[in-house]
Amino acid sequence: MKLSSFSSYVLLSLLPFTLAHPGMGDSMRDIRRAAAQIERRNSKELIGDLKTLKDSQLTAIGKDIKAILLESKSAESSVIDTSIPPGTVDSAACKADLCCVWKWISYEMTAKFNGTSGRCTKFARGAVRLGFHDAGVWSKTSTYGGADGSILLTNELDRADNNGLKDIADYTKQLYNKYNKYGVSMADLIQMGANIATVVCPLGPRIRSFVGRKDNAKAGPTGLLPGETDSADKLIKLFADKTIDAHDLVALVGAHSTSQQHFVDKARDGDPQDSTPGIWDVAFYGETTTAAPPRVLKFQSDINLSKDSRTKSEWQAFINGQGHWNADYSTSYTRLSLLGVNNINDLKECTKVLPPARKSFVSQDQAVLDLWLQGQFDQLNNMVDDAIMLTGVITTPPKVTMT
Ligand code: HEM
Ligand SMILES: *[C@@H]1O[C@H](CO)[C@@H](O)[C@H](O)[C@H]1NC(C)=O
Ligand SMILES: *[C@@H]1O[C@H](CO)[C@@H](O)[C@H](O)[C@H]1NC(C)=O
Repeated sequence: MKLSSFSSYVLLSLLPFTLAHPGMGDSMRDIRRAAAQIERRNSKELIGDLKTLKDSQLTAIGKDIKAILLESKSAESSVIDTSIPPGTVDSAACKADLCCVWKWISYEMTAKFNGTSGRCTKFARGAVRLGFHDAGVWSKTSTYGGADGSILLTNELDRADNNGLKDIADYTKQLYNKYNKYGVSMADLIQMGANIATVVCPLGPRIRSFVGRKDNAKAGPTGLLPGETDSADKLIKLFADKTIDAHDLVALVGAHSTSQQHFVDKARDGDPQDSTPGIWDVAFYGETTTAAPPRVLKFQSDINLSKDSRTKSEWQAFINGQGHWNADYSTSYTRLSLLGVNNINDLKECTKVLPPARKSFVSQDQAVLDLWLQGQFDQLNNMVDDAIMLTGVITTPPKVTMT
């Protein structure tokens, strides 16, 4: 293994700190993790135009994205512009500012994605999944597909893979009809939507967000999205073919932390994949491998990934690693969001329009949510899906039945 000078620096600078630390077990884990990180970094593949461009040809954004893909730069950012836009979307001042239209879009999406409970709504979760299902229709041997907007510009949505995406699809198309005349591509709208949704979900990372992708009105290749009964081996190979390694895959499926299924088991419509739907926390990783409340429906694919020798240790590491997971998810999602994009070097950045990250969250209606998770209150299903505050919805105290 050849160490780049940056990687060696990280490892060496970690040594004095960890050796001086009394918790030797933790220290060894830190060192092993740093070493594993270096190994991964050296095996990272470049994509799109970054594969052929020389460093001397790269723009500042091109350099940053290359560094993110090679894992020497964080994909998270807190750079924010809290000022109101310079004018309405039609104004000359707004048209003169590349990110102005995105600021308006961010306001609209944030309102749609944030529920009155403070959790993120079904539209937010749909937006994250939509981002995956547009970009993920790509492999190393594809000559088209990827993050090109085709999922909403063609009949791709009719494919069984995309069951459950209708509501977010309709909403995104509405925004497209409103904002396309200001130069917004469908591909960018979908990926910006995924990143805004992620940060609106409590505890979610604030991922650097780039615009300038090109649309393609040709349906992407078929057979490139995963199924919920797939084995770990099948999933690892499917994603490797998208330059997404096993570690990245474990980070990405953590998006199921927010999820509520509708089509895997239709008799259990709305059942979540962990006990905290609408929250971007790590409960999903722990609960997939151990016990969870009765209403939690675990996907077989997630259980399979949690057990495979190639993915198990990372799965375990995320169980108590919110910051670690957020960092890795951001890096992996950035890669996913650029699959099939061949003008990465010409993209621009509008991260500053994203709302701020919410680094802590108290679920004020947890008592009611807990009863729902135990299988009570089916009448709340839609409200949980819409992330509506449940306190006050149940006016009489829950009846305790003695048997
Ligand atoms: C191992 C690969 C994966 C499989 C087999 C898989 C499968 C599924 C399935 C079956 C659903 C439920 C759909 C429904 O019944 O309504 C779902 C939901 C979801 N998936 Fe995945 N997925 C995978 C990876 C990913 C990735 C990589 C992401 C994002 C980066 C993602 C994001 C989501 C989200 C956010 C939802 C929730 C949607 C909602 O609540 O409406 N998934 N996934
Ligand atoms: C979402 O709603 C919660 C609770 O109503 C609020 O605290 C939070 O600031 C909102 N988030 C954004 C990004 O507007
Ligand atoms: C994956 O899940 C399926 C069920 O869908 C199960 O039968 C199978 O044993 C699992 N495969 C592996 C390799 O764990």
